[in-house]
Amino acid sequence: MTVRFIGSPHTRVDGPRKVTGNARYAADFNQAGQAYAVIVSATVGLGRITEMDGASIERMPGVVAVITHHNAEKLPYLPHKAVIDPAEGERLHVLQDDQVRFYGQPVAVVVADTLDDAERAAAALRISYDARRPIVDHAGDEVKAIVPDAATRPGARTLADRSRGEADAAVANAAVKVDENYDIARENHNPMEPHATIASWNGERLTLWSKSQYLVNEQAEIAAIFGLPLENVEVVCPFIGGAFGTSLRTWPHVTLAALAARHIRRPVKLVLTRKQMFFTTGHRPRTLQRIALGATPEGALAGMVHEGTGETSRYEQFMEALTNVTDYLYSCPNVRTQYRLAPLDTSTPNHMRGPGEASGIFAIESAMDELSYKLGIDPIELRRRNEPQLDEAENKPFSSRSLMQCYELGAERFGWTQRTPEPRSMRDGRLLIGMGTATATYPAFHAPASARVRLLADGTAEVEAAASDMGPGTYTSMSQVAAEFLGLPLERVRFRLGRSDYPQTPSHGGSWTMASVGSAIRAACLEVQAQAARRAAADAGSPLSGASVDDLEWSEGLLRRRGDTSPGISYHDIVVRAGVPIEAGGSAQRDPKVAEQYSMHAFGAVFAEVAVDPDVGTIAVRRIVGAYGIGRVVNPLLARSQCTGGMIGGMGMALMERTALDPRDGRPVNAHMADYLMPVNLDIPELEAHFVDEVDPHVNPLGVKGLGEIALVGTAPAIGNAVFHATGKRVRTLPIRIEDML
Ligand code: MOS
Repeated sequence: MTVRFIGSPHTRVDGPRKVTGNARYAADFNQAGQAYAVIVSATVGLGRITEMDGASIERMPGVVAVITHHNAEKLPYLPHKAVIDPAEGERLHVLQDDQVRFYGQPVAVVVADTLDDAERAAAALRISYDARRPIVDHAGDEVKAIVPDAATRPGARTLADRSRGEADAAVANAAVKVDENYDIARENHNPMEPHATIASWNGERLTLWSKSQYLVNEQAEIAAIFGLPLENVEVVCPFIGGAFGTSLRTWPHVTLAALAARHIRRPVKLVLTRKQMFFTTGHRPRTLQRIALGATPEGALAGMVHEGTGETSRYEQFMEALTNVTDYLYSCPNVRTQYRLAPLDTSTPNHMRGPGEASGIFAIESAMDELSYKLGIDPIELRRRNEPQLDEAENKPFSSRSLMQCYELGAERFGWTQRTPEPRSMRDGRLLIGMGTATATYPAFHAPASARVRLLADGTAEVEAAASDMGPGTYTSMSQVAAEFLGLPLERVRFRLGRSDYPQTPSHGGSWTMASVGSAIRAACLEVQAQAARRAAADAGSPLSGASVDDLEWSEGLLRRRGDTSPGISYHDIVVRAGVPIEAGGSAQRDPKVAEQYSMHAFGAVFAEVAVDPDVGTIAVRRIVGAYGIGRVVNPLLARSQCTGGMIGGMGMALMERTALDPRDGRPVNAHMADYLMPVNLDIPELEAHFVDEVDPHVNPLGVKGLGEIALVGTAPAIGNAVFHATGKRVRTLPIRIEDML
């Protein structure tokens, strides 16, 4: 495939709208006559509501309604399972009973004419609880881990137990061993834009302007909760101010906005407060892991054991791919992985950028680094010695695997040769300097998707899909794909997303948007070209009249007979003569035979340099260099931006982010941006992302592996390994804190 638009570093086509304030986010779609809803969140962690006197605030200024479990409409909550929802359990039925299952659970909604009135009344609502002490400490004695039901099913992506060879014995008998435990804190997504929904009913039809990474799922979920036909619900979301996974699922506030709007027969706007973003919109589950590695003195892995437990709620089983990476990362004859869940009295976690892999890889890559010191082998060399020829867990070849090329490119750009291997051997004045590296990986997913292309009489093309753009530049990259396959200049292509009535796409997550939606757009473009060619051939007035469609070919948006040197005819000519736009749909999914044949993953190598102040223990990341093998890069400018964003997320995971729960009531004590630490500009060093040339003909027609998640995966262990190199202190609990350095 010769490419013109795919691979070029176009700036964002939606950039001007964003910087001029013309991009409209969910909360910007104000409706005439709209009221404002404020959620009242439970202030106990477990128990039941014994008293809630809504009437006491109903006469406060501006109050339109106070909705509690006493007067809320009973909702049918029909079953609905999408790929993004936990496979086991039943979602929270909001305001349907007096039970409190976790701290911050919505227990009432106050609706008023202004936000201020709603907030005042919500604050005045007195509630009594019969409260019990929740169990929220994943590491606590009372916690009983369970086998995740969905992880025992054949074909599950994450298996509760997986084993080849005799891993435990191999580790026990190995000449060199590492056997350690890892604890990664709960994290909350904290995008800039909070969750927001504006709900408006027209009879039995509902429109939601709602922050969502998965519009068609939100449509289906709300339809199921309210018992409506699917087509009665429409979800609109043209822009997202960051999400990182928090908007993959449809959370209770969307239901509450719709419920409130129906209750008062007016449109309702509901925006979560920053604090409420810590309660009911998912979080990266705290994980506890054990890694045991055994190796020969030459550094060949003899045995690997990876056991991990993630927290979940009592009412749903949230799973992520915590231990999967250990199955395929390195060559080893004896491998055992085990994945369990710890049900706690908290809300259900969900996917947060690099879900599962990011946590799992911190453990395995920290252990590999530790092993390299015990062996006295350079960390990159250790990985080279264990580079597999195939995915040994699946016994399949990789569709492509460029891990060692990533290490070579990354090491060169980072200047790995300047590193002296001894811990504490590098200094800059009084600062201890450390350099660390780690592997990154993420599956190259592909999900069924569809798209539509319309050729218009003005020579432009409209492309539509029900996708979202949470920041990676979907508007831009999809326009590039359409321009590529139509042969039109980029400015003549308009890509629209953000409506549930556009052709269906999978969730905007899992790094599969380009693979899935991009492939669907390609298919739609090829189909619309075929239709246009048929029109031209059937048109008696066309120079191509009577031609066999097989003899025609498109080039640069022009149709001519194969081998002909005439100028050809354009979409514009064909559409004008047709008198109506020419429209075609297309869909794409991965051929199951190809999927069966290959193991498909992206790989990367991340390098970090840190400076640790030996007196006060502060850790500054000085640079991060990542090199990635992600198949074809559709837009290097956007791709680099994705990578630096992911690295910053990884810095947060390594050094700052931790949602701390009060053990007495499960309250997130740092549910605000002052105490929930995340990297800010002053923390963010030089970040570099590079891409190895990688051609993968198997993953999808575009040859893309996806990029969003892998950019976070690998950063935290690279930083942790750099901290060890700087200080000789191995920290296996994230985030690494100043006190760990003292
Ligand atoms: Mo990504 S965690 O699938 O938004």
